[in-house]
Amino acid sequence: MKKQIKEHSLPSLKEAAKRSKEATKIIHEEITYSSRLLEFAKNRKYFIRTYGCQANVLDSEAIEGILQELGFVPVDDPLKSDLLILNTCAVRENAEDKVFGEIGSLKRLKDINPGAIIALCGCMVQQTHIVEQVKKSYPQVDLVFGTHNIFRLPQLLDEVVFDEKRVIEVLSKEGEVIEGMPLARSDRFKAFVNIMYGCDKFCTYCIVPYTRGKQRSRRVADILNECQNLVDNGYQEITLLGQNVNAYGKDLDPNLNFAKLLELVAKTGIARLRFTTSHPWDFSKEMFEVIAKYKNIMPCIHLPLQSGSDDVLRRMGRRYTVFHYRQLVDELKSLIKDVALTTDIIVGFPNESEADFEETLKMVRYCHFDSAFTFIYSPRVGTPAAKMEDNVSMEEKKRRFDRLVKVVEQEAEERAKRYINNVYDVLVEGTSKKRDDILSGYTETMKLVNFKGSKDLIGKIVKVKILESHTFSLIGELVSDE
Ligand code: SAH
Ligand code: SF4
Ligand code: F3S
Repeated sequence: MKKQIKEHSLPSLKEAAKRSKEATKIIHEEITYSSRLLEFAKNRKYFIRTYGCQANVLDSEAIEGILQELGFVPVDDPLKSDLLILNTCAVRENAEDKVFGEIGSLKRLKDINPGAIIALCGCMVQQTHIVEQVKKSYPQVDLVFGTHNIFRLPQLLDEVVFDEKRVIEVLSKEGEVIEGMPLARSDRFKAFVNIMYGCDKFCTYCIVPYTRGKQRSRRVADILNECQNLVDNGYQEITLLGQNVNAYGKDLDPNLNFAKLLELVAKTGIARLRFTTSHPWDFSKEMFEVIAKYKNIMPCIHLPLQSGSDDVLRRMGRRYTVFHYRQLVDELKSLIKDVALTTDIIVGFPNESEADFEETLKMVRYCHFDSAFTFIYSPRVGTPAAKMEDNVSMEEKKRRFDRLVKVVEQEAEERAKRYINNVYDVLVEGTSKKRDDILSGYTETMKLVNFKGSKDLIGKIVKVKILESHTFSLIGELVSDE
C-alpha cells in the first residue's frame, strides 16, 4: 500500500535567497524524546552515509548524537540497518547522481527488512526540484529533512514510525544558530568545530548560499567552550569550520573578527589549530599576524582560486582579481614560514576561453600549490551561472580538466620534494589500510606520511624523518626523541 505523505514544509530556493539585515539569533534547543520513540529506538541499528564537505560531516555527528541518545546503535553495513540516512551534497551534479543511484540500490533494504526507514537529509533536499523528484519517483524514502532542522529529527522520526506516513520537513528560512545539539564525534584526536553557518557570498555558480542559508556566526563563548572541552578531553587538533571563516563575526558584532577568534582559540593550548575555508576576498592583515604569531596555528592555508582569469573571476562573482590573489600568496609565503597552500579550481565555467584557461594554468605554476581540488563546472538549478550561455563543449572541458590535473600533480610532486631528509612533527592517526605495522599521520602542512611504528603512538605527535616523496604521500622513519 502506498503511504501518505505528511508535508510540514517544502524547500523554496527563492525564500532561501533572501537575506535580512537582522543580527543573528542564537537559540538553545532542548532536544526532547517521546517515551514511545525511546522504546522503539532501543538497540535498533542505524547507518549513515555522508557526502560533501566538512559541514556535512559535522551535521552527521549531530544526527548520530541524537540517534545514540535515543538508543540506536551504529552498524557498518547499510543492508543490516533499521534506519538508513543519506546526508547529501548538492554542489555538483555527480554528487547528486551518486545519491540517486544509492537510493535506487537501497530499495533492497526494504525487501530484507520491510520495517526499515530510509531518510534523506542535507543540501540536496534543500532544492525544490529534488524534493519533487523524491516524492514522485522514490517511494522507498520515508523521511526528508533539511540542513536547518536537524534538531527536529526526534519529532519527525516519531511521526514516521507511529503515524506510518512519509514525512517531509525542509525549511528555507534565513536561519538562526542552534546550540545544544549532542555530537557523536567520529574521531578521538581530531575535531571540527563550526564557527559559523551559511554563506552570503553568492558566487554565481554555487548552490551553497541557498542550501545553507544566511551567514550566521556562533558566539565566541560557545565556540571557546567547545574547544576547551576538546582540549580537556585529549584532542590534538581542531579545525574551525565555515564557508568563509574570514567573514566570521560580522553578523554578530562589528568589533568581532576572525583574527580575534583565532587568537582566542589558539590560547586554549590545542596542539594543532586549523581553519577552512578562507576566501581570498577578506583575508585581513590581522589574520596574517595571528597565524604567524602562534606556533599551534598550522602553516597550511586553503585559499580557493577558482580561476586564473580576471574575466572569469568577475563573472563568477568572486570579487578579487588575479593580481590581488597573487599579492596574497606572496605575502603568505613571506610572512608564514614554510606555508603550504592548497586550492579549489573550476574548469569550463560558461564561455571560458582557451586563453582564460591558460591563465589558470599559469596561476597554478606561479602559486606552487601543495595540492588542489579540481572540478568541471556543473550548472546548478537556480544559480545565475546556470542561465549563462556556454560555448564550450563538454569534450573540451574534459580535455582542459585533464591538462589542469597534470599541471597540479607536477607542482604537488615538485613541492613534496622539499620534505626529503628533513624531520617533521606528525600527528599519528592510525595504521595503513594494508599493513598494521605501518602508521600513517599528517604533517603540520597536511601532508600524509607513512612510517613504521607501534600502534601505541596513535593519537600522539611524533618526529618523522622523510625518506621518499610521492605526489600524494611521503614515506619516512620515526626519529627517537633523544
Ligand atoms: N566556501 C568555499 C567553497 C565551498 S564549495 C569557498 O568559497 O571556497 C567547494 C568547492 O566546490 C568550491 O570552492 C568550488 O571550487 C567547487 N564548486 C562549487 N560549486 C561548483 C559548481 N557549480 N561546479 C563545479 N564546482 C563547484
Ligand atoms: Fe559557494 Fe562562493 Fe559561498 Fe564558497 S563563497 S560557499 S563558493 S557562494
Ligand atoms: Fe555540499 Fe552542502 Fe557542503 S552542497 S559541499 S554538503 S555545504
